[in-house]
Amino acid sequence: MKQTRTLCLAACLALALSCGAPKTDSTIGASPEVERRVEKILAQMTLSEKIGQMNQVSAGGDVSNYTDALRKGQIGSILNEVDPVKINEYQRICVEESRLGIPLLVARDVIHGYHTVFPIPLGLAATFDPDLVEQGARVAALEATAQGVRWTFSPMLDIARDPRWGRIAEGSGEDTYLDTRMAEAMVRGYQGRQLDTTSMAACIKHFVGYGAAEGGRDYNSTYLTERQLRNVYLPPFQAAVEAGAMTLMTSFNDNDGVPSTGNTFVVKDVLRGEWGFDGLVVTDWNSMGEMINHGFGVDRKDVARKALQAGVDMDMMTYGFLSHLEELVKTGAVKESDIDNAVRNILRVKVRLGLFEHPYVDVEAGAAVQYAPDHLASAQRSAEESAILLKNDGVLPLKADAVRNILVTGPMADAPHDQLGTWAFDGEKSHTVTPLKALEARFPGKVTYVPGLRYSREKRDAFPDVVAAARRADVVLVFLGEEAILSGEAHSLADLNLKGSQSELLAALKATGKPVVATVMAGRPLTVERDLPNCGAMLYAFHPGTMGGPALANLLFGDVNPSGKTPITFLRTVGQAPLYYCHNMTGRPYNGETLIDDIGMEAGQTSLGNTSYYLDYGAYPLFPFGYGLSYTQFTYSDIALDRTSYGADDCITVSLTLANTGEYDGTEVVQVYVRDLVGSITRPVKELKAFERVSLKAGESRKLELQIPVSSLAFYGLDGVKKVEPGDFQLWVAGDSASGEPVPFTVK
Ligand code: BGC
Repeated sequence: MKQTRTLCLAACLALALSCGAPKTDSTIGASPEVERRVEKILAQMTLSEKIGQMNQVSAGGDVSNYTDALRKGQIGSILNEVDPVKINEYQRICVEESRLGIPLLVARDVIHGYHTVFPIPLGLAATFDPDLVEQGARVAALEATAQGVRWTFSPMLDIARDPRWGRIAEGSGEDTYLDTRMAEAMVRGYQGRQLDTTSMAACIKHFVGYGAAEGGRDYNSTYLTERQLRNVYLPPFQAAVEAGAMTLMTSFNDNDGVPSTGNTFVVKDVLRGEWGFDGLVVTDWNSMGEMINHGFGVDRKDVARKALQAGVDMDMMTYGFLSHLEELVKTGAVKESDIDNAVRNILRVKVRLGLFEHPYVDVEAGAAVQYAPDHLASAQRSAEESAILLKNDGVLPLKADAVRNILVTGPMADAPHDQLGTWAFDGEKSHTVTPLKALEARFPGKVTYVPGLRYSREKRDAFPDVVAAARRADVVLVFLGEEAILSGEAHSLADLNLKGSQSELLAALKATGKPVVATVMAGRPLTVERDLPNCGAMLYAFHPGTMGGPALANLLFGDVNPSGKTPITFLRTVGQAPLYYCHNMTGRPYNGETLIDDIGMEAGQTSLGNTSYYLDYGAYPLFPFGYGLSYTQFTYSDIALDRTSYGADDCITVSLTLANTGEYDGTEVVQVYVRDLVGSITRPVKELKAFERVSLKAGESRKLELQIPVSSLAFYGLDGVKKVEPGDFQLWVAGDSASGEPVPFTVK
């Protein structure tokens, strides 16, 4: 069966209306009426009330702890209160008992779902499915806003290329384009396409460069040049601003010596000046105060001044603005007009969200929204699409009617807390379905469960109980990985092998000769090279969230065909970090030279080839970016461009035939990469420019057309101006970043 279809690629969205793509909505909620209301409120405020709006505090305990401050208008926002009864009471005090009745912005880290927990963001990125990710963010917003939370500190847009960094779990991985697409999707999902009472303001974070922490150690310094910032790290933020993101958070790190919370260049010049951002800029937790630790200010007064002057509007938990701004204005060290601008940015968000009209929630109705069946279904689908099949010797998919005795083992088989992953504050164990529970429900009486290891770090010398059970089983399903606590903020690791005795457990299972299928749940790409030979198949599920169990059961038994692709390079060993697909062209590219085992005694210095690689591990990763198997096979053919030469305003139409040549229906993520052969600066070996999920029945083939605006090939070159540099290019269409043959084209 052959069909023709034109895929509307979002590469076209932000950049080229000439490609006929819809416009993004950077004006969501903005209007002269909003501005008029903001000015009216501002005109009535005392200096102290203005400064109060700029203060965000963490709730906790009794509402009465804050009554006095709320009445005096000393708090503009609270975070970490999720009890809707208390939230209503906070709002009541503000609205009814403070002089101007300004409601609070209630914030929470709703990072990958609220009660219904979705896969961690790195897993969501593996879906390469922005529509589904938008849907997930919408579900999170529906649940959280129903209980009074109107501001989430998400999405995290930090490009991360070092899996030692624990927060890699919270972002979309290593690639600027994939991150950009996920950023737009999440902003739209949280805020809704139209603002209403279910809109939860997105907070794009951490601005900026935080994911490039030296050595992958959280909070560490970064050294990104302005060009790297502009070409790699800033684009997802800019796209999110254009998609209407209402708020932004400054990061903890210093870049080239300047902590972000005091970084006038990135906040004032780029964000406000170049991008015209009129939303709210909040610090990270005490990141204003931590500028003292950085040695970037002498005391809280000093850092409060620096943050304000850099363009920060709200102080999370330093109390620097609250304690010192009034005095700083009085002494003339800061201008009241800067404070006015900050307050405008805060009030604008409150007005746009409709908080003045709807400060309260209906507690009973809000409870009914949580864990709605369609929310759980969306979370399950996200978990299904996020799992990546890394290896399959044919053991998968399992045949449901052929199994009589399934051994389920491993520390992640029944870990309802840990499969939720990091930043799942509001997810509940009691609602989480683990693989064990899902398999037991599906195959009553056929599942034997022997944990083997109770948790990932446990050490055991032998596994007689598991091995005996494996010998009696027809198939062994082993669930390995790392618990939620091993990734996320401040949870960096220097060793990325499976911890404890997990590899030994896998080897012992393999030695039984039974078919062994390993599923890994983790917050990062672990180094699983040594484990691959010990299993017939490996499914990489990240932390899959509330519905991870049923999703994995569907994948293992073939009701759903795996379609996830690696959103980040999987390393062979941690010493390769950082290794990412879109590195710049080196002067001495690797071309397969001598490895350590081939080096003879007293070998000469020049016998090794002198190119860019490790003597012990070569130059390649375990799995490249964009990689993932399916139960079926896809073949690419007839790859062609509509022309050989383009102008800067043109759109490149790439055509191909994708065929499902295997025995199962399946979904392929078609990826398009481009290399700019010669630039005014060295350019990446290839960069992702478009992707699309394509579902084909077994035996089906389809002619596809993908469009790439030439303007998306622009970059900041030697002159610091963003533009497409004319010259020769190559383009690949493939199922991962390491496959395909280059097709040449020229830009005039
Ligand atoms: C994190 C932020 C988070 C904030 C509030 C900080 O420690 O870096 O990402 O939003 O806490 O919980």
